[in-house]
Amino acid sequence: MTAIILVIDDEPDNFDVIDALLSQEDYQLEYAANGLDAIASLESYNPDLILLDVMMPDVDGIEICRRLKAMPNWRMVPIIMITAISSKDNLARCLGAGADDFIGKPVNGLELRARVKSMLRLKHQYDELQGLLQLREDLVKMILHDVRNPLSGLLLGLELIRSPNYPEVKRLHRLETVYSLAKSVQTIVEDLLQVTLTEAGQLNLNYDFVDLGALAQSCLTRFEAIAGQKNISLVSQLPKTPLTGIELDAALFQRVLDNLIANAIKFAPQESQITLTVTAFNPEQIQIEVIDAGPGVPEELREKIFEKYEIGTMMANISQIGLGLAFCKMVIEGHQGTIQVHPHPTQGSIFQIVVPRRPFQTSQPSPEKALTPP
Ligand SMILES: Nc1ncnc2c1ncn2[C@@H]1O[C@H](COP(=O)(O)OP(=O)(O)OP(=O)(O)O)[C@@H](O)[C@H]1O
Ligand SMILES: [Mg+2]
Repeated sequence: MTAIILVIDDEPDNFDVIDALLSQEDYQLEYAANGLDAIASLESYNPDLILLDVMMPDVDGIEICRRLKAMPNWRMVPIIMITAISSKDNLARCLGAGADDFIGKPVNGLELRARVKSMLRLKHQYDELQGLLQLREDLVKMILHDVRNPLSGLLLGLELIRSPNYPEVKRLHRLETVYSLAKSVQTIVEDLLQVTLTEAGQLNLNYDFVDLGALAQSCLTRFEAIAGQKNISLVSQLPKTPLTGIELDAALFQRVLDNLIANAIKFAPQESQITLTVTAFNPEQIQIEVIDAGPGVPEELREKIFEKYEIGTMMANISQIGLGLAFCKMVIEGHQGTIQVHPHPTQGSIFQIVVPRRPFQTSQPSPEKALTPP
């Protein structure tokens, strides 16, 4: 993007000199003959850098500089003062007013170009940081919003259950709702934590021999109540005999399946079916698929949704943070496997994981174990 430089100088000839000295550079130059006018029109100039003459009639450059630096929206725009008086006293006054740099008159082209470049570099870094801060703020707001909804539902549910007059027949159903709300808060918090840890290079996999069929089944069982709220049926297609020799981080893998099932339930319509399959693809690989009858993922978003905070197609009244699949991808790739989404031939998505049966030998294999629900 072309940087915009605003030159404030009462002498149009001085502007022409600067214009000529910077003519080889890709800058957009704007000119104001008066400091107060410049301040009044800052919005329309929208400068990335200001070159400000010190000696000006009425209000001088030092006062203009002070006023600019007192404006919250503009104080981060660097100001280079241009001054004929190069005394230390004058310099101190410029810096005291908040100026970022200064150039003596007559202006030297080489020096001007170097100082402009260095100040624009600073401004660019500031803009980037500002963008990141904004993103972080938006995310915090979004996450708070997404946590608050299930949390209020959870508290309300608990209030009801606690009340002595609450009908006993409804209690169990209410407990299930409350449990699923607590679960969704937990998922948001854990995904966030995991993504942060992985970014810091701390995703440690604890490999263990796992009965994947049992792990998949326990996952479906835990989601039955939540799926029941949308009358969604959960179906499993698991190997007849337990698959042996599969080493995984069971806790992380379970959360990957949780995320995929949670997504399927979230995005699929009422009364539909979700299928979880586990297949020994070949002697080397295991394939796991979560198949739903939801809206599917448009082709151009099929890779993107696995990136952090990518929410694909926006859907009304559905919480979308965009962390779940990023988490899944990190864990699966940590297991040297792949995760992809394919369109279902009739309607919906197939989220497919392929992991090697034995990524490497662990030093002390422990006995096969199935995970029990927490
Ligand atoms: N089964 C699915 N059917 C259709 N779209 C899906 C499905 N799963 C994921 N998506 C799309 O991919 C996006 C990213 O999914 P991801 O799980 O990363 O985040 P999320 O579900 O929006 O939020 P969360 O961080 O709470 O999981 C979703 O917002 C949605 O647009
Ligand atoms: Mg999700």
